[in-house]
Amino acid sequence: MCGIVAAAAGSNIVPVLVEGLKKLEYRGYDSAGLAVIGQNGIERVRSVGRVAELESASAATHSPTGIAHTRWATHGIPCERNAHPHVSGAIAVVHNGIIENYESLRQELSAQGYVFTSDTDTESIAHLVQATLQDEPDLFQAVRLACQRLVGAYAIAVIDHSQPGRIVVAREGSPLLLGVSDTGNYAASDASALLQVTRNMVYLENGDVAELTADKVRIARLDGTPVERPIHVSQLSAAAVELGTFRHYMQKEIFEQPDALANTLEIVGGSKTIQPGIFGADAGQLLAGVDSILILACGTSAHSGYTARYWLEAIAGVPCAVEIASEYRYRVSVPNPRQLIVAISQSGETADTLAALRHAKELGQPKTLAICNVPESAIVRESALRFITRAGPEIGVASTKAFTTQLAALFLLTLVMAKVKGRLAPEQESTFIDQLRHLPVAVNKVLELEDAIEVWAKRFADKHHALFLGRGRHYPIALEGALKLKEISYIHAEAYPAGELKHGPLALVDANMPVISVAPNDQLLDKLKSNLKEVQARGGELYVFADADSEIPESEGVHILRLPEHYGELSPILHVIPLQLLSYHAALVKGTDVDKPRNLAKSVTVE
Ligand code: M6R
Repeated sequence: MCGIVAAAAGSNIVPVLVEGLKKLEYRGYDSAGLAVIGQNGIERVRSVGRVAELESASAATHSPTGIAHTRWATHGIPCERNAHPHVSGAIAVVHNGIIENYESLRQELSAQGYVFTSDTDTESIAHLVQATLQDEPDLFQAVRLACQRLVGAYAIAVIDHSQPGRIVVAREGSPLLLGVSDTGNYAASDASALLQVTRNMVYLENGDVAELTADKVRIARLDGTPVERPIHVSQLSAAAVELGTFRHYMQKEIFEQPDALANTLEIVGGSKTIQPGIFGADAGQLLAGVDSILILACGTSAHSGYTARYWLEAIAGVPCAVEIASEYRYRVSVPNPRQLIVAISQSGETADTLAALRHAKELGQPKTLAICNVPESAIVRESALRFITRAGPEIGVASTKAFTTQLAALFLLTLVMAKVKGRLAPEQESTFIDQLRHLPVAVNKVLELEDAIEVWAKRFADKHHALFLGRGRHYPIALEGALKLKEISYIHAEAYPAGELKHGPLALVDANMPVISVAPNDQLLDKLKSNLKEVQARGGELYVFADADSEIPESEGVHILRLPEHYGELSPILHVIPLQLLSYHAALVKGTDVDKPRNLAKSVTVE
């Protein structure tokens, strides 16, 4: 999704803007631009395509004050005319989010003589600020007043050539933080863009407006009331966002999973028991009255929820439903104040998940838990309880290590709920904890399958469709495998519970339709084997990820890779890894942009 970087310093900030945009590339974008306060007016450079092109195009631009942007098209096609910054007279604006009342603003401003040159909603902000400056010449006040008229979600940064050295930023619904230092002050959509200049971050709240100069920051609410926001020292490591020796972030992140899991599970320490307190100080009390669970999430995070449903019902005996956040928020549902709402999100800023969480609270459901990878995110801040997965920054658009660490967190929730419900014997608890602790080692062994998976992936070069099968708690893993393959290799992929095959999808099976099956050695294995026979009998090509002891023989049209260990309840965490690797290598074979697949964004901060 769009990314913003802004800088006011004592020397040329163009390299800082460009470097910041490079760090935000992972969010997904299709054009980029920057504007600085130059000698004779606003100097603007925009380009369709990569930030590297913007870097070359802006090589001769110098200024101590400027704003920059990567755009993920919502209103208007990706083209230079629609790229940010948008200019009105002496001012330039960058924007992340969606302005819902932009059409009425556009009509009103056009009637006043403002000429629109793009199809974007953002341009109406530029003209609105310009129009407001006619009565209120101070940029800070003008932006504050203009924001009062905006409906929707936004993070914006504004410069004015007639007020050099100043940047005014504001946020409502879209992420924005400030970076403060002795050599300058900055703003960005996330901390990774600013680590190059400072670790001291100030997280703006919704409804905040801030002014930055090289040596000063001031913040106020939209009504003008001054506010102070604390400085957080970011713990994000700059190395964590470097590619190192890997070809892509996705590959790096797949291989970081042993560490990500170890870090996430560190909270359990050397203990043989697990306490509700890992979800927050009030967790014991809040969870005691819980009679059911509703998980709200999108995409991959929803798949971790679907997996957890099997655990929560089987192990903890707690009724659990999982709902796609964008559906839940708009349907009429029956609120249950004793239900625990679990919002799962890597970014913690996904607009649909955040809105669903707020919707649940408005309905009178106060028991909320965030499972999230970003501690300062809105979803975490707005939930009563929280569990922070410690996957580290996930840059690749395709979510990998966030998923497996979410699963680890959800298994911990299952154990806590089982304990709260008096369903967890001490020996069972200690066995599960030992299995969790062993996960990083087990994942490392699965990663050794990469070379064999790469060979399989080459056979996907000419494929346009694929079917994924799983049963029980591995059905959501099949869903996740299909999502991974489609989003990065653009091969159309669908997942089915294997037992559902004969109810329709079997009609699709022929020699051109690879069928990928997750086949752990669990109580459903024999049933699954029958389903695989149905595929084989129709000439389908089967790619089976089995456990070492699954006893499915290799034969004509049946390719088998065996995972080294059989992992019981936690098996989904191991079985998703070969599917991630398969998608990654299939995408390489197809030659797609693995980390930034077309049309997608990392952090989906619009509806
Ligand atoms: O940040 P979130 O976990 O809330 O994001 C949810 C989805 O947008 C995300 O998982 C998406 O489906 C990924 N691209 C999948 O790889």
